[in-house]
Amino acid sequence: MQDGALSLLSSAGIRLSEEALNSRRLALTDESGEYQFIFVKPADVPVYVEHGIADCGVVGRDVLMESEADLLLPLDLRIARCRLVVAAADADAMAKVQGMIRVATKYSQIARAHFGARGIPVEIIQLSGSVELAPALGLADMIVDLVETGTTLRENGLTVVEVITESTGRLVVNRASYQLKAEEVNRLVQALDRALNGVQ
Ligand code: PRP
Repeated sequence: MQDGALSLLSSAGIRLSEEALNSRRLALTDESGEYQFIFVKPADVPVYVEHGIADCGVVGRDVLMESEADLLLPLDLRIARCRLVVAAADADAMAKVQGMIRVATKYSQIARAHFGARGIPVEIIQLSGSVELAPALGLADMIVDLVETGTTLRENGLTVVEVITESTGRLVVNRASYQLKAEEVNRLVQALDRALNGVQ
């Protein structure tokens, strides 16, 4: 996501120096001095933008669905395309599990909503990463996680049971910034839109 976002921003004329990128500083200014960047974990992007610490952010649709942040979403940046799926060792796992299905995931809200909408009772087991390990070790019957190439699922003996949704990187904007900094925000949105559509 970060590489894709920086590359797109660069095409839109917003660039970070090599020196800045190679540093371990988490708050950086672009070459023009007009934009300040902060680098945070995906789940924290909506938090910083909703609180107005950042006016804009780049974050996956998966993270936005999991978050309850109230943000504007002016652009699909078409980067970091992946699928959010239910996966298990067996494609028929849904029919085979006896009793309550145990689902390990980083996406507990999405998983609860997905199974809840279909009237399937599940026990959600919240993890922070390496979710694909859970079925093999007996912690869960299935997982809800992101799939990009499918390599992690395959190499851990799992297969897609169903696709919940697709996800791509989105530009998000703080509601107040959209009003109070309308000119600056619109300039950024338009520059990214032109870069996305290959217009100079
Ligand atoms: C993500 C996701 C999968 C993997 C999918 O993990 O949670 O584990 O990438 O990619 P693939 O389909 O191309 O193999 P990430 O690297 O973010 O690590 P984590 O979820 O374990 O923290």
